[in-house]
Amino acid sequence: KFAFTTKSRSIVTMAANEEFTGNLKHHLSELFDKSLKLTVPDVAGVEPLVAASAPEKPGDYQCNNAMSLWSMIKGKGTQFKGPPAVGQALTKNLPTSEMVESCSVAGPGFINVVLSANWMAKRVENMLINGIDTWAPSPPVKRAVVDFSSPNIAKEMHVGHLRSTIIGDTLARMLEFSKVEVLRRNHVGDWGTQFGMLIEYLFEKFPDTDSVTESAIGDLQTFYKASKAKFDEDPDFKEKAQQAVVRLQGGDPIYRNAWAKICEISRTEFAKVYQRLKVDLEEKGESFYNPHIPNVIKELDSKGLVKESEGARVIFLEGFTIPLMVVKSDGGYNYASTDLTALWYRLNEEKAEWIIYVTDVGQQQHFNMFFKAARKAGWLPASDKAYPKVDHVGFGLVLGEDGKRFRTRSSEVVRLVDLLDEAKSRSKTALIERGKDKEWTPEELDKTAEAVGYGAVKYADLKNNRTTNYTFSFDQMLNDKGNTAVYLLYAHARISSIISKSGKDIDELKKTGNIALDLAEERALALHLLQFAETVEEACNNLLPSVLCEYLYTLSDRFTTFYSNCQVNGSPEETSRLLLCEATAIVMRKCFHLLGLTPVYKI
Ligand code: ARG
Repeated sequence: KFAFTTKSRSIVTMAANEEFTGNLKHHLSELFDKSLKLTVPDVAGVEPLVAASAPEKPGDYQCNNAMSLWSMIKGKGTQFKGPPAVGQALTKNLPTSEMVESCSVAGPGFINVVLSANWMAKRVENMLINGIDTWAPSPPVKRAVVDFSSPNIAKEMHVGHLRSTIIGDTLARMLEFSKVEVLRRNHVGDWGTQFGMLIEYLFEKFPDTDSVTESAIGDLQTFYKASKAKFDEDPDFKEKAQQAVVRLQGGDPIYRNAWAKICEISRTEFAKVYQRLKVDLEEKGESFYNPHIPNVIKELDSKGLVKESEGARVIFLEGFTIPLMVVKSDGGYNYASTDLTALWYRLNEEKAEWIIYVTDVGQQQHFNMFFKAARKAGWLPASDKAYPKVDHVGFGLVLGEDGKRFRTRSSEVVRLVDLLDEAKSRSKTALIERGKDKEWTPEELDKTAEAVGYGAVKYADLKNNRTTNYTFSFDQMLNDKGNTAVYLLYAHARISSIISKSGKDIDELKKTGNIALDLAEERALALHLLQFAETVEEACNNLLPSVLCEYLYTLSDRFTTFYSNCQVNGSPEETSRLLLCEATAIVMRKCFHLLGLTPVYKI
C-alpha cells in the first residue's frame, strides 16, 4: 500500500544557464519528471507524458500524467480527490524554470504549459549565434548501417529503387546530423544464377571481353532481356549458362573477369543516377559477403538452428509457416544466407549498433524471418527495441496516374534516368515561361531547373507516409502551390530576398540584435522553429521522413502568417523580425539538407 504525501512547492530552480539541448519536449519532461517524483514519491517509474499542444489549444505543451496517475493511485489511500487535484499538485511541484511562463490545470486534469516568450527569443538568438547543429538530436548509438538503394546488376533500376535511394539517403542524413557515423551501404544484387546467361551472352557477342565498354553493350537491361530470351529458347545456350554459373562460383578467372566486367558497366550506370541525386553510397554488394557465408552457416549450425528439409538446409522459426532456407538443395547460397552473413558482418566486423534496411514492403517477410533467426542465434537482443537493433523500413508502391503500377506508355518499367530528365526539363520550361532565361545565365537556369526538378521528385516521395502507395504525378509535384518542393524552395528564396533587400549585414545583426516575440504571429513562428529538434528526433526514431516534411510545410505556413501580419523592412521591429527571417531560412535550409534538396536563392 502506498502512502501519499505532497511536498510543498519545491525550491529546485534550474540555473539561469540551465543546459538546453534544443529539445523543448525533453526539457519539459525533465521538469515534470522532478515534479512526479516529488508529488507521488512512492510511485516509481512513471514516464512524463509531455506533448506539444495543437495550435488552437490554450498552452504550448500539455502534460497528461494526472489522469493516468489517478487511475494508479485511487482507492489506495491517496489524499488526492481526483485527477484535477493530482494535476494541481504536479503543477505546484514543477521546479521553477526560466522556460515556463505559466502552468494551469484544465478539464479532467490536463496541465497546460505556456512557455516564456523571453526565453524562447533567447533560444532562437542562441541558435543564430551557435549554429543549428546545437539542435541536433543525440540517439543512443555511435555507428549505424543504412542499407539502401541496392539495385540488381543488369536488371532494371526501377522506381522502387528510386524510393529506396531517396528514403535511405534522408534517413542517413538525419542520423549523420545527429552525429552518428553512418555506413551507407549499397547491397547491390551482384551475384546469382542470372550471371550464367549474362556471361555466356557476353562471350557470344563480344569474344574479346576485355575491350567491352558500356557504350558497346548499350543498355544493360536490353542486354539482359536478350540473354534471357536466348536462355529460354535455346537449350544449348541454357546448358552453357548453367555451366557458367558453376564455373563462376568455382572461381574460374575467365568467368570472374567477365562477371566483373558486367558489374562494372552496371556500376557506371548506377553512378550517374547517384551523382544526379547527390546521393553518397558505398557499394558492398551481395558478392562481398560470399567468403564469410560458410562460416556463418557453420556457426548457426553449431547452435543447433540449421535442419535438413527436402534436401535443403533451413531454419525453422516460430510464427512462420515456412522455414528460412539458408542452403539450397544444390548446395548454393541464396538471398537469406547472404543477408544473414551481411548482418553478422555488420554487427561483428563493422560494430554497427543500428542497422536499417530500406526496401519495398513486399520484402517484409524476408526481413522478419532473418531478423528472427538472428535473435535465435543470440546475435541480437530478444527485445526489438534494444540495441544492437535492426529495422526494416518498408515502403509502398509507386503508382501511375491511372492508379496502376507506374509504367511507361508502352508498359515498360520506367527508367530512372528518363524520369529525372523529364523532371528537369519540365521545371526548366516553367522557368523559361516566367522569362528567367532572359534574367539568368544558362548555368543558373540549369542549376535551378535541377534543384527544383530533382527536389520535386524527392519531396513528392518523402512527404507521404512511406508505407502507403503513392501516385507519381509530374503535374502535382511541380505545382508551385501546396505542399510541394517547388513551393517550399520558392518560399525560402523569398525569405532570403527579404533579408538581402533590407541592406542589413545579417551576420552583424546576429551578434548584436535581439529578438522580441510580442505579437502572436511572431511567437507562433518562434515556437515552431524551436520544435525543430524534437521533430528530427521523432523522424529519426520512427524512421519517418514524412514527419520532417510536415514540419517544413507548417514552418512555411507560420512564416507566411507572420510575414503578412508583421511588417519587416522599415518597421521599428526590423532587427528582431529580420532575425526571425534568418532563423526561418536557416531551419528551412537544414530541412532541405536533411531531405536531400538543394536550396535556391533566386526565383
Ligand atoms: N537487391 C534487392 C532488390 O532489388 C534489395 C536489397 C536490399 N538489401 C538487403 N540487405 N536485402 O530487391
